[in-house]
Amino acid sequence: MLVAAGRMVDVASLRADTPGTENVVHLNNAGSSLMPRPVIDAIHRYLDHEVGYGGYETQRVFANELDHVYSTLAELINAEPSEIAISDSATRAWDMAFYSLPLEKGDRILTTTTEYVSNWAAYLQARDEKGISVETIPNTPTGEVDVAALEAMIDGTVKLITLNHIPTNTGVVNPVSDIGRVARDHGIPFLLDACQSVGQLPIDVDEIGCDMLTATSRKFLRGPRGVGFLYVRSEFLERLNPVFVELHTAPVVLPDRYELRSDAKRFETWEKNYANVLGMGTAADYAMGIGLPEIWERIRELGASARQLLGEIDGVAVRDLGAVKGGIVTFEVDGLHSLEVRELLSERSINVSISTPLSAPIDMHERGIDDVVRASFHAFNTEEEIEQLVAAIRVMS
Ligand SMILES: Cc1ncc(COP(=O)(O)O)c(C=O)c1O
Repeated sequence: MLVAAGRMVDVASLRADTPGTENVVHLNNAGSSLMPRPVIDAIHRYLDHEVGYGGYETQRVFANELDHVYSTLAELINAEPSEIAISDSATRAWDMAFYSLPLEKGDRILTTTTEYVSNWAAYLQARDEKGISVETIPNTPTGEVDVAALEAMIDGTVKLITLNHIPTNTGVVNPVSDIGRVARDHGIPFLLDACQSVGQLPIDVDEIGCDMLTATSRKFLRGPRGVGFLYVRSEFLERLNPVFVELHTAPVVLPDRYELRSDAKRFETWEKNYANVLGMGTAADYAMGIGLPEIWERIRELGASARQLLGEIDGVAVRDLGAVKGGIVTFEVDGLHSLEVRELLSERSINVSISTPLSAPIDMHERGIDDVVRASFHAFNTEEEIEQLVAAIRVMS
């Protein structure tokens, strides 16, 4: 156990809750984490009912529980339930926000060098189709967004600040509250990609000052795959023009008129995988039961310890940026492609991932890195698992 923020993270009970820990050393929580038992049970309970009684009928039986998911997600990020829309991935949630923004020719949008590739592709499309300009904010020497540089870039043509809280391919945590202050001071919309941070650390949308935030279930939140969510600040809702409308998002459809619903659900689709929705809500409840400050403290400790031990191995270069670093640990092993490292670790039942320019093109290109091994830690991981990783890498290097 580690002492964290005055409370103990009971690692033994987290592991007892997590069947997958019996099979693998799972260091791919930034890819897709291991679901804990309450999440698995919620999904099974829902699916069993669906199998036995029918999809629409089950949805009605679970209506209150499904409705409660919005309150739980809202509580997780300090929002209102009416500010939450459920989507089938973080990317779709993000798309619903980004493509609904009224951007026009000549507008500038400011983002990070570490932006996730799908967001980057959307910026390029908006550049090509709408004539907007996409600019990256310089980083500080330690690798996070330079808030003073951001402020210096702002003029009346900047119509969006859009960036990640934690990138996909390095440990850095961006100073989002400072960025939010700049956005607010200048009245510029702020879209935050919190895909790697929700579930990893405490999130408070008021404190951050973002207008829109997107997240997924399967990563640090430890819910199922195929589901995520979008937050839109209620005062900001009317500034977006939803790219799609349908029966759930525009419920009053007369022969020649439709009305958008009044809450963030206007960005949803009617059809959903409700078992996964319930699983995501249960995962958020589970994380809050442990305590996000406590989870964060432990993840940071595990990340720091792994970086130090890996860094001591000859032939290993740790590649993480950040004055504040989280649970994503990236490194290269001399003479081996990261894919080979991943395969060799997999033979020892150690799960890691890799990052290449395919996931964070600008950052990898600017730092001249072709590929890195990505080991990502969650609170249920142990010091012994770090030692297993380090021992396995030592043999390879
Ligand atoms: C920073 C970041 N943003 C967005 C995404 C996309 O999430 P999803 O695959 O749920 O659409 C990822 C996925 O790895 C990510 O790391």
